[in-house]
Amino acid sequence: MKITIFGTGYVGLVTGTCLADVGHDVVCMDVDAAKVARLEAGEIPIYEPGLETLVRHNMEEGRLRFTTDAEAAVRFGTLQFIAVGTPPDEDGSADLQYVLAVAETIGRHMTDEVVVVDKSTVPVGTADRVRDTIARVLDERGESLAFEVCSNPEFLKEGNAIEDFTQGARIIVGTESEWVKGLMRECYGPYIRLQEKLMFMDVRAAELTKYAANAMLATKISFMNEIANLAERLGADVEQVRRGIGSDPRIGYHFIYPGCGYGGSCFPKDVQALARTAGDVDYSADLLQAVEAVNQRQKQTLFAKLSRAFDGQLAGRTIALWGLSFKPNTDDMRDAPSRTLMEALWAAGARVRAYDPEAMDECRRIYGERDDLVLVADRQQAVAGADALVICTEWKVFRTVDFAWLKDELAMPVIVDGRNLFDPATVQGHGLMYFAVGRGNSLQEELPRLAGF
Ligand code: UDX
Repeated sequence: MKITIFGTGYVGLVTGTCLADVGHDVVCMDVDAAKVARLEAGEIPIYEPGLETLVRHNMEEGRLRFTTDAEAAVRFGTLQFIAVGTPPDEDGSADLQYVLAVAETIGRHMTDEVVVVDKSTVPVGTADRVRDTIARVLDERGESLAFEVCSNPEFLKEGNAIEDFTQGARIIVGTESEWVKGLMRECYGPYIRLQEKLMFMDVRAAELTKYAANAMLATKISFMNEIANLAERLGADVEQVRRGIGSDPRIGYHFIYPGCGYGGSCFPKDVQALARTAGDVDYSADLLQAVEAVNQRQKQTLFAKLSRAFDGQLAGRTIALWGLSFKPNTDDMRDAPSRTLMEALWAAGARVRAYDPEAMDECRRIYGERDDLVLVADRQQAVAGADALVICTEWKVFRTVDFAWLKDELAMPVIVDGRNLFDPATVQGHGLMYFAVGRGNSLQEELPRLAGF
């Protein structure tokens, strides 16, 4: 079938490519001419395992094309996916200007009946606004073409997007139209066992499902981080607690890893946007606000631990950082805990020597050249001459460490681990001080040793 995708960002590109890969004829439209030129040359602007090969293959097969021509794009597809960005406004609500601009474009150029599919994460009620916009533009044109707007939220994890698209837990479609249901079955049919995975519901329920899913996952993480903070103060090991509670199938093992806070393009933005939406309908979403507040505080714990270890004397120190991206297998640094840490270190007069397997270009793009940031080619160089090491991201390559070597390299034997990668006893056995997340009262026990250093 013929499909148009508006927006060649992360979601649009993965969606367009995966749909082309099962034989659909896909045109991806973007207003950014430079981006489209790069894509036409087979260059992928984001890091996502497997995506580049898939894009090139489908371009070669002639099923995947990129364009800046909005009119041609609108006239192409029976399904018109809106997958443009919804960045947070200053007040935390989702900014819909790009979504509504696409709706205008569709209304202006459509010459046949179409189904508009909201793929971007948009507040409840957006499908109605998209519908109103298209209807208004058609009215201005004096046209009365049939169209439908449905909601089809994405559940892609960065680094695992292709698998999530092709083998996801569910495909949510918010619509009451039998015409739309038929087209969406045809669209996703090649990927799913329909009865199990395609879920039709009303439009507002579909829109809310997306936010509820992300808010639930973020809640699990903030809850676990709170338990970790308690464990630290109570002298308990949160890793044992995690295994203990995860064994209950009602709780489960997924998404209960404590850490240095969640980041990325979805959780922080979506939790805040849902809390704002609640405010708009006069409901105070206290739990969501707490989830966000706990996360903000958690992202500051890396610096707080370092600062306590150095008795607040961080000026002039050099801190090695392993991991910049908000999680492994991505170069994304949006809302990453590493940023909270680096910015606090710089404010305290410390320098950073950082290594990340994928995110260093992104880091350069965000922070530019500065004297207090050195990006190095591997993790060994990051610790060379550093006073202490902080681990922000659990990339696989950081999981095996020669602790004797590390002890020799670091001027002070301090590791702050935001991802609980190691067994505390093993690290401490090498004479290193190990400040992890919620692993007993390590901080209290270790500090007197450090004071005498
Ligand atoms: C998330 C959702 O998983 C996905 O379904 C949705 O479509 C978009 O948002 P993503 O942002 O790519 O995907 O990352 P995810 O792998 O879910 O991790 C989010 C954050 O939570 C990361 O910062 C990660 O480090 C953190 N996390 C995750 C924890 O701190 N503990 C956990 O147990 C799990």
